[in-house]
Amino acid sequence: MSLGKSSGASVEMGECTRNPSYREADSDGPAAAAAAGRSSPEPAAKRLSSDAGQEYLQIQPYAGMPKEVLLRYSSQARYRVTREVLFWLTVACTLALVGITIAVIALSPGCLGWWQGSPVYQVYPRSFKDSDGDGIGDLRGIRQQLDHFLYLNIKSVWISPFYRSPMKDFGYDVEDFREIDPIFGTMHDFEELLADMHNKGLKLIMDFIPNHTSDRHRWFNLSRTRDPYYENFYVWTNCNATHPKPNNWVSIFGNSSWTYDEVRGQCYLHQFLKEQPDLNFRNPDVMKEMIDIVKFWLDKGVDGFRMDAVKHILEAEHLRDEPQVDPNKPPELVTTEWDLHSDYTTSQVGLHDLLRTFRAEIDNYSREPGRYRFMVTESYDYDEVWKTMMYYSTSLVRESDFPFNFYLLDLPHNKSGLWAKELVNLWMSNMPKGKWPNWVVGNHDRPRISTSAGPDKVRVINMLLLTLPGTATTYYGEEIGMQNINITDSQIQDPAGKYNSSLSRDPERSPMQWNDDVNAGFSSGANSTWLPVHPNYRTLNVEAQMQDDTSVLAQYRFLNRLRSSELPLNRGWFCYVHADAQVFSYLREFDGLQRAYLMVMNFGEKSAVTDLSSFPEFPERLKVLISTSHQNSGREFPKSQILTEPGEGLMIRYSTDTRFNPNHQGECYISEKACYLEFIDILYKC
Ligand code: NOJ
Ligand code: MG
Repeated sequence: MSLGKSSGASVEMGECTRNPSYREADSDGPAAAAAAGRSSPEPAAKRLSSDAGQEYLQIQPYAGMPKEVLLRYSSQARYRVTREVLFWLTVACTLALVGITIAVIALSPGCLGWWQGSPVYQVYPRSFKDSDGDGIGDLRGIRQQLDHFLYLNIKSVWISPFYRSPMKDFGYDVEDFREIDPIFGTMHDFEELLADMHNKGLKLIMDFIPNHTSDRHRWFNLSRTRDPYYENFYVWTNCNATHPKPNNWVSIFGNSSWTYDEVRGQCYLHQFLKEQPDLNFRNPDVMKEMIDIVKFWLDKGVDGFRMDAVKHILEAEHLRDEPQVDPNKPPELVTTEWDLHSDYTTSQVGLHDLLRTFRAEIDNYSREPGRYRFMVTESYDYDEVWKTMMYYSTSLVRESDFPFNFYLLDLPHNKSGLWAKELVNLWMSNMPKGKWPNWVVGNHDRPRISTSAGPDKVRVINMLLLTLPGTATTYYGEEIGMQNINITDSQIQDPAGKYNSSLSRDPERSPMQWNDDVNAGFSSGANSTWLPVHPNYRTLNVEAQMQDDTSVLAQYRFLNRLRSSELPLNRGWFCYVHADAQVFSYLREFDGLQRAYLMVMNFGEKSAVTDLSSFPEFPERLKVLISTSHQNSGREFPKSQILTEPGEGLMIRYSTDTRFNPNHQGECYISEKACYLEFIDILYKC
């Protein structure tokens, strides 16, 4: 609008911008003339500045008034003061908001990463689901079953190797790290699987095998023929062709870890099968190539890596004999890893530098928002637990998010509450402060826990896994209590079993039991499956257990869903309460939250009555939220007499104002301390 066009002013302002008081007060003046549509010889703005005088101050401000009118009002005290008050109020509010935001950020505990918020589910791809009827599982098969993970509320899936491989060690002997083995499918199948997983909110963890390749790998062939670049890609040494034992080192699969190669006329080292030559990580070109492979898969979008057999990555260069465990044993009888102290073949100086270099490369990909890439290391250090702990990142140098914790694999060794506590505490008391624990009760290398501990202990062990602090690992089939198969010597597939049938890992690798159809729904083909299906599949299968709300599967699902929604369970305090020959009891609580969980679990062989009356923190009567013996769910016990049967686990939910952890500091652990503020429903550092 422009008052310069005096004749059209009223039309341009329109009805809604007219100010009646303006017209009234100015009825004899030039504005009235403009409002009435009379023409004026002078431009309106000029008239306003020259003639308006005092009468403009009597009119009311109105929307659309020209600047000159506005300025007259704006200097009046009532407008100036209001304006200043509003200005300072805005400044104060902005500062307060910035202050609150900084305080909230500074006081907020970190969010849990995806690798902390869900169990890691291990898929052994040969055995999970066969989509093309050849009797061997494949990537398309896994893709068909993704809803199983959603059903269980599992978000992280580790898939054992599916690289191109001659399958001497079923994929842990890699011929080409950039290709998919045709048994498992194509690269396209992989990409579709990954895309589908991401669409469903699932993360994919690849297996990465840095220690060795297959002897069919291109690098090995070029190394044998002394190609200048590849000549030192493997660990070669001179040896006697007829007695190829440069020293007493032994393979994990038994016998000497040296094999003579006729092409090169030297011996090469293999800490596993002779078809798995060890790479020479003292050669920086090896590291460079391996990093390129890691990047290749990160570029494809994978979410993390499980690093295989890491303690074997470096060996001592001096190649001296390792000390015998029994110095009197004749050297020719020294054939297994248990016969030697593996001082020169494992955990060598420089190993952690290599892993940290891998980690740094992986971390470069974590910088994309919301795309954290995870790393877990596999190393069995048995009674040298401190060696395992060294794989955890420190505050200055990043390494593993966590090293796998294999100690619970030992649960069957002694069926008692004290032993369960001892194994849990072995990790908790050695773990560096503030780190995130994890728990494994089975994998493709160890007998299934349901067989080794007995089927009656499956539920209590799953309950333990899902209520301890940290990340649980679930080997496929553990969620339904699958058991080892029996196989005859002629059925043995595993190379370790061919060396010594008692070492065969086939029994824990049988096909997943989906339903009671042919081949347990694992494979619809007429071909036999690569390992036999367990005969119990007709009753023990996913479909049957989905129909039964008392099943192992139903309990797993209930606990895993509860865990993700309940602060005490997913990031709260963990406190030991009691342990005896039968029972192991602990609690999970969260500061600021009245609700807490008490676990009373019978790992023994006898029924037990547990008396917790000496703890004033617990209410007099305790109600069971879920028992592994379904009929006891909902039951109430006085705290002096909590009854459990062998293999029974109770989860008791209770409410209290008194926290347990302040009074039992030596017995309690938390990864990152946080408190809950109920009235605004937030967490803060405390
Ligand atoms: C550990 C794997 O879990 C096992 O299956 C394999 O045989 C060895 N590493 C060698 O890669
Ligand atoms: Mg090695």
